[in-house]
Amino acid sequence: MARTTRTPRVDFVIVSNRLPIDAKPTADGEDQWVTSPGGLVAALQPVMAGREAAWVGWPGRADTELAPFSLDKTHYVPVSMSEQELAEHYEGMSNATIWPLYHDVIVPPEFHREWWDSYTRVNQRFAEAAASVAEQDGFVWVQDYQLQLVPQMLRGLRPDLRIGYFHHIPFPPYELFAQLPWRQEILHGLLGADVVGFQRVADASNMRQAVRRNFGYSMNKPIVRVPVDARLPRDPHAPPVTASKTREVRVDAFPISLDQAAIVEMATTDSVIARSREIREELGNPNTIFLGVDRLDYTKGISHRLKAFGELLEEGTLQASDAVFVQLASPSRERVESYRELRDDIELQVGRINGDFGHLDRPAIVYLHQNMSREEMMALYLACDVMVVTPLRDGMNLVAKEFVSARTDNKGVLVLSEFTGAADELDQALMVNPHDIDGMKEAFVAAAHMPVAEATRRMAELRATVEEHDVRRWATGFLDAVTPHTPKPRR
Ligand code: G6P
Repeated sequence: MARTTRTPRVDFVIVSNRLPIDAKPTADGEDQWVTSPGGLVAALQPVMAGREAAWVGWPGRADTELAPFSLDKTHYVPVSMSEQELAEHYEGMSNATIWPLYHDVIVPPEFHREWWDSYTRVNQRFAEAAASVAEQDGFVWVQDYQLQLVPQMLRGLRPDLRIGYFHHIPFPPYELFAQLPWRQEILHGLLGADVVGFQRVADASNMRQAVRRNFGYSMNKPIVRVPVDARLPRDPHAPPVTASKTREVRVDAFPISLDQAAIVEMATTDSVIARSREIREELGNPNTIFLGVDRLDYTKGISHRLKAFGELLEEGTLQASDAVFVQLASPSRERVESYRELRDDIELQVGRINGDFGHLDRPAIVYLHQNMSREEMMALYLACDVMVVTPLRDGMNLVAKEFVSARTDNKGVLVLSEFTGAADELDQALMVNPHDIDGMKEAFVAAAHMPVAEATRRMAELRATVEEHDVRRWATGFLDAVTPHTPKPRR
């Protein structure tokens, strides 16, 4: 990749908590930057391809000041965080307050004023960095819950810009959101954007309701009229705002997707297909391979699905000699207490089930706590019979869409939680409530025994849905909403 250190001003700027590239140390001790394979990069790839753009984000290490640098046509602007900010902004406010609060309080959120102060400071730093690289009248697209204050801060610094914000995770019902001591600040922050995008219609409506309850702004769904001089604090009991000078903010759903053609390309290479056969062999050619692929996160419902699988073995409905569950759990947020506890719980559960039902040559659950290459993941998607995506709550869940996209053979069955954004679109999956263990057991058995013709019909429909609603449609829809003049994704 061509590397320069020039950072020009550009008219297309992405801002996300993490930069989409990882530093890999080379033999001579220097860092080399390589694109990380995360979902956001893949989603934005078609939008960025071939055009000059800047990406503002944290480079993934504390206390590291890095100069801006460029690879090909993308200019990376690293934003530093101290060890304390990492603990308070990222691990604290973002991942021990907002993340659990917005995911149905599956674990109790913690509210700490120092964390909030740090979140505010770090958001300000991101806004300043974005303001420094955006061209006059340019477009800045802010991503996700770690940066909810950035849109308003950026508007304060650069009123000329068009600002978009996309929220990748759920936005909770008001009864939960209202717990947040800084709820007005968050709403005010988000309303600095011209368009606030969500995964589901329900998320957008939750935010509009929160705005109505806190600020009383007039709205005409999906448009909220925000007074241009909106300031905090605002008395929630004050009458509705009737100020004549307002700006329009669109608060709407734009369900994210993926580049199906790119997945198909990867999943149809000879090496991936050969590897998928090898995986089945290595697992002892069982009748049914169940597969779970998740970050190790309590929102993903891993223990619920393993419980269902364990009970099926215990009852003898399934036998470990002909059914295996492969659970890939990639390491995540390992310094946050609830994630450490989750890891212990899952590993205890896996150990118990394997102890009770495994064989010398074959465990009942193959559990891998590691990151895996994209190719190996594709081979796993092709090797399995039943893909189990059963989060307790999930903004979208792109694993479900990836699995479907990879199955060009129209085989395999998707078991999907109704509490994912993906469930709004993938209605040909076997839908489950992950809290209903009996219901989940029934779905596992139905999936394992589904007649081939039915499985093929369902998979073909699922694939057609993802193909039609692919990531270009997502990006185009969002960019069109922000302004008809922003760059469009290229084919
Ligand atoms: C979710 C969030 C992203 C986040 C990713 C990985 O998908 O929506 O914003 O980047 O998880 O989490 P991490 O804390 O490692 O960035």
